[in-house]
Amino acid sequence: MLNREYLEKRDIKNEITELSAQEALAQAIENELLVEVQQVIGQGKEAFVCWGTDRFQQQVAVKSYKIYRTTHRGVIHGTHRTSPYAVIAQFAKLEYYKNLDLHEAKLPVPKPYKYAGFSYSMELIGDENGPAPLLRELSKDFFEDPSEILEQCIDILYDMFKARYVHGDFSEHNLLFYDNQVFAIDFLQAKNFALKDAVTYGSPLIPLTRAYRILRKDLSSLLPFFKRSFRIEVDYNEVLNYILGDVKEKIDRELELQVEASS
Ligand SMILES: Nc1ncnc2c1ncn2[C@@H]1O[C@H](COP(=O)(O)OP(=O)(O)O)[C@@H](O)[C@H]1O
Ligand SMILES: [Mg+2]
Repeated sequence: MLNREYLEKRDIKNEITELSAQEALAQAIENELLVEVQQVIGQGKEAFVCWGTDRFQQQVAVKSYKIYRTTHRGVIHGTHRTSPYAVIAQFAKLEYYKNLDLHEAKLPVPKPYKYAGFSYSMELIGDENGPAPLLRELSKDFFEDPSEILEQCIDILYDMFKARYVHGDFSEHNLLFYDNQVFAIDFLQAKNFALKDAVTYGSPLIPLTRAYRILRKDLSSLLPFFKRSFRIEVDYNEVLNYILGDVKEKIDRELELQVEASS
């Protein structure tokens, strides 16, 4: 029995133990996110991802969150710390909806299917032979024209920004390559932004210049990767301005206001 009540009880007895992969998968199967497990395809600090099939025979990826360990109190990814189980259930739900927003905005991301418990299921990028490789796993010789791959990555950032999202961890570790196309994954840290710096307290939107800083950080991990691995060099500011488009004026104005306010 792996319901919330049972877990909360473990909690009260002060036994906050992380779910094992088996327990998490048992819960995901109970919640009908998948019916058959092929294998674990990703093991991270915060989550693990498993490849399987659902009851419609679709290939799915199921991402399950682990207990969030931190001494940090307060708000994490917009969730208030109640029980650690409630926090990771909220993570699964939050990531599901960010993924859904991006999918509805027609970005090349997996189609999210369902969230339940500490997990959410999505389309597997790949096929019955398994998941697609990450960009970091592919060598220079794999691509006929690696600059086209960089263009695809920049287009994703451009379209995401148009949809008022910044990714926040946009790197070769979170980009998959399948069927000649780059796909983005991993959205818990992605942020939906406002077109101004004023957001009301408790708003799910982040201020515009914060999004701007996150985008800059994403570009400073993506562009050096292409330089390092594929010997492709592009002008950072040119790419940045291209992604910002018309919004650049608004950002410049907000940055000016910040300077005025602090002087
Ligand atoms: N939809 C998917 N299709 C194929 N592989 C995936 C999918 N989602 C995740 N993966 C694999 O699982 C790994 C971890 O997923 P990710 O969402 O990046 O989790 P983490 O937060 O642990 O980095 C990825 O690096 C990728 O190899
Ligand atoms: Mg990742």
